[in-house]
Amino acid sequence: MTRAEEMDWETAAAAFAWQFDLGATEAICDGPVNRYELEVAVPKAAPVVAAPAVLAEVDPVAEATALAAAARDLDALREAMAGFSHCELKQGARNTVFCDGHPGARVMIVGEAPGRDEDAAGRPFVGRAGQLLDRMFAAIGLSRETPDAEHAIYITNVMPWRPPQNRDPDAREIAMMKPFLARHVELVQPELLVVVGNCSADAVLGQRGITRLRGKWGQGFGLPVMPMCHPAYLLRNPAAKREAWADLLEVRARL
Ligand code: URA
Repeated sequence: MTRAEEMDWETAAAAFAWQFDLGATEAICDGPVNRYELEVAVPKAAPVVAAPAVLAEVDPVAEATALAAAARDLDALREAMAGFSHCELKQGARNTVFCDGHPGARVMIVGEAPGRDEDAAGRPFVGRAGQLLDRMFAAIGLSRETPDAEHAIYITNVMPWRPPQNRDPDAREIAMMKPFLARHVELVQPELLVVVGNCSADAVLGQRGITRLRGKWGQGFGLPVMPMCHPAYLLRNPAAKREAWADLLEVRARL
């Protein structure tokens, strides 16, 4: 018989059909096979797949709280924040924006999150909103540049990393960064806090609705807190500057 590999496909199919018609029930090789001499093929054991390690659930707030508590000074706190990896915003940021101003200041200002300019510079409030913030506080005799603690301000943000498209940090992100902010306030020990914008009011006072809250003293982290509209909002709504001036006078009177 012609060997199968010498046939074309049609011939092989016809030969197979013919054998099938004759009653063939199995294919045999050209030579005899002694099946007793064949090694018994032991079915291969299925590869042992290691059970997935049960990943310990990480609680970012608990971790932030422990890291913040362990920070003995501002440098240690800055380092702890820069090394904190549970906030996804860090991935898209160029810098960890920690603070600016005098660490012995009586007034500590809490902003929201860095924008493009702050992300590039690694300092809070250096863009247009920041320049307005500087002018506002200069109007009541306070500055971030002065070495005189009596007339100085200290500036930080709730969030040290720039959010994409300058979106607001969400509730989860605020919650995980709040322990760092609490420790930051504890280490600086200002006499009072000024929070600018909703996100900062949320983190410090636990409340939103800055246009309603502004101008009324609240309490946060054990300190008096003056909520104010964010300078970026004042740039867009110049009419609100009048109220901001009243809020600044409140701060000056309290000092
Ligand atoms: N807005 C903020 O709230 N913080 C900054 O640092 C810059 C803009």
